[in-house]
Amino acid sequence: MIDWNLRGRTLFVTGGGSGIGRAIATEAARGGMTVAVVDALAERATEVAEELKASGANAQAFTLDVRDAAACERTVAAAEAALGPIDAMVACAGISPPAPAHSMSDEVWTRCLDVNLSGMFRSVQPVGRRMVSRGRGAIVTIASVDGLGGHAGRAHYSASKHGVIGLTRALAIEWGRHGVRVNAVAPGVVDTPLVRANLPADHLQHAMIDRVPMGRLAQAPEQAGPTLFLLSDAASYVNGAVLAVDGGTSAGYFTRWNGADLGSRALLEAGAYSAPE
Ligand SMILES: NC(=O)c1ccc[n+]([C@@H]2O[C@H](COP(=O)([O-])OP(=O)(O)OC[C@H]3O[C@@H](n4cnc5c(N)ncnc54)[C@H](O)[C@@H]3O)[C@@H](O)[C@H]2O)c1
Repeated sequence: MIDWNLRGRTLFVTGGGSGIGRAIATEAARGGMTVAVVDALAERATEVAEELKASGANAQAFTLDVRDAAACERTVAAAEAALGPIDAMVACAGISPPAPAHSMSDEVWTRCLDVNLSGMFRSVQPVGRRMVSRGRGAIVTIASVDGLGGHAGRAHYSASKHGVIGLTRALAIEWGRHGVRVNAVAPGVVDTPLVRANLPADHLQHAMIDRVPMGRLAQAPEQAGPTLFLLSDAASYVNGAVLAVDGGTSAGYFTRWNGADLGSRALLEAGAYSAPE
């Protein structure tokens, strides 16, 4: 059996106070990792860190807005001073405010790119610099299926997530020879506070879930396993990869009704597509 070798290693996870980041922090702690829970909202980071500590893990909360480069440097230094060298990082902080492109304000566009793309670079850079100097480390960026294709009402978000994938690949090439692997996880639609807050129930069902071949949303912990795999020694030769964790959403284009792509329901039910004898 392959040993993932994560026990005892230190993880720095941005956006760790909610949703996917929280699930990754929780699974990492359960697997014996020391966790720096990093979030712009202090109370969220603290709540998660306290929960992890109560379960017996070594964890500490850090408040950080990833848009602030100087604060990123300070927070990474503080986390290493408190918890030891960072072995693994998950860059998960992100926002996804819906806005139609034709009327999107410059402020909404800029904020989304600033958090999701520039903030990701600003938070990854001080961690990556330290990993490169030590000659080891693994980073996972949380992209999205919206980084693999477009999405109406999400021009800014989709542009930011395509950027995240480009950034991930460039860093993988630049840092790979220094023993630092950088990979992306591209989640499909995950049942988190961000999704519930931003999507009307009807859109969720008929524009999204209907198109997922597996016929359901992901639960946040389902993003944790693939992420921890990419951080682990089991993925020691995986670098620059984009792992879609989307129930098959990005596997094709003409998808509807949970993978029943053979035509309309009526035609299907009439047997129009049954194989010839
Ligand atoms: N939920 C989904 O369906 C889905 C799908 C694909 C990708 N993603 C991506 O996964 C990541 C997490 O999403 P989620 O659904 O768990 O969202 P969430 O809102 O539940 O959690 C995001 C966390 O990031 C924090 N955050 C926001 N701006 C920040 C900043 N400037 N600095 C530091 N922290 C900040 C928030 O406080 C929050 O705790 C995001 O990057 C998102 O784009 C989510």
